[in-house]
Amino acid sequence: MPPYPFSKLNVFKTKSALGEYLAPFRKSGKRIGFVPTMGALHAGHISLIQAAKKENDLVVCSIFVNPTQFNDPEDLKKYPRPVEKDLALLEEHHCDVVFMPEVEEMYADNAPWTHDFGLLERVFEGKFRAGHFRGVGQIVKMLFESVEPHHAYFGQKDFQQFLVIKKLVSDFHMPVELTACPIVREANGLAMSSRNVHLSLEERSNAGQIFRILSQTRENLYLFPVAELEKTAMEQLALIPGASPEYFNIVNNTDLSAVTNPETEAVCVALVAVRIGKTRLIDNMILKP
Ligand code: PAJ
Repeated sequence: MPPYPFSKLNVFKTKSALGEYLAPFRKSGKRIGFVPTMGALHAGHISLIQAAKKENDLVVCSIFVNPTQFNDPEDLKKYPRPVEKDLALLEEHHCDVVFMPEVEEMYADNAPWTHDFGLLERVFEGKFRAGHFRGVGQIVKMLFESVEPHHAYFGQKDFQQFLVIKKLVSDFHMPVELTACPIVREANGLAMSSRNVHLSLEERSNAGQIFRILSQTRENLYLFPVAELEKTAMEQLALIPGASPEYFNIVNNTDLSAVTNPETEAVCVALVAVRIGKTRLIDNMILKP
């Protein structure tokens, strides 16, 4: 009996069952596309499934709320887990395979994670969420080993996470191609996120200001010094009702180091994190090109 009788999808809960199912596809030269997620799927996740569908013969999506990347136990406890809705959405968008392991399946051998991503895991999200990227690296490596995809798809929404995953693939010489897909936003500009369900209607509407502040920074990139743009953005974020801004910085897109002169930089990106009420939101925007 399949683990989720209400779904027509091929859902697997163990690495061995998934591996057995995928082996013949791999053998016959089919390309496997992979979209790792923590579920509570929205249009942002679906855009990754669609990108993967276009470029591969078979698309695997994983749903796994990974405990090792949560630095706040309360955040882990309240992370939304609407399994039926997620599977219905994946079915509607013709995802071929879903991998939904239990925590015990992924962390059976309890091997400690010792790999260090260097500065990348200590700044911005790494600084505000200590240990977060070690947990992300640990699980994405295990997921890549379970699925063995040819190509994996991530969102630009988690800009720093994508850099960490690029480094993971390069450090461990993993044979997987990576693509970062554009940020999917609500009508008011708020970047879609599974955590947006925790926002009240009013907070959700106010959170549209984050996009406005990012856009305004992009428009002003060559008009004011970077430090002034960052200061103004932090001040404007602080004006959003119930907001506590954590950072707003203009950095380069390779190692997230500070940009002093956008003219001499190939690519600049603004990274932002802000709490609205009890919900922590992150967003970013490529300011140049
Ligand atoms: P999760 O937050 O579920 O996100 C899964 C993927 O969807 C990530 O690559 C994320 O960047 C992308 N995504 C989220 N919101 C998006 C949006 N508005 N537009 C486009 N893409 C968006 O990121 C994780 O899960 C986990 O850290 C994971 C990589 C699965 C490891 O546990």
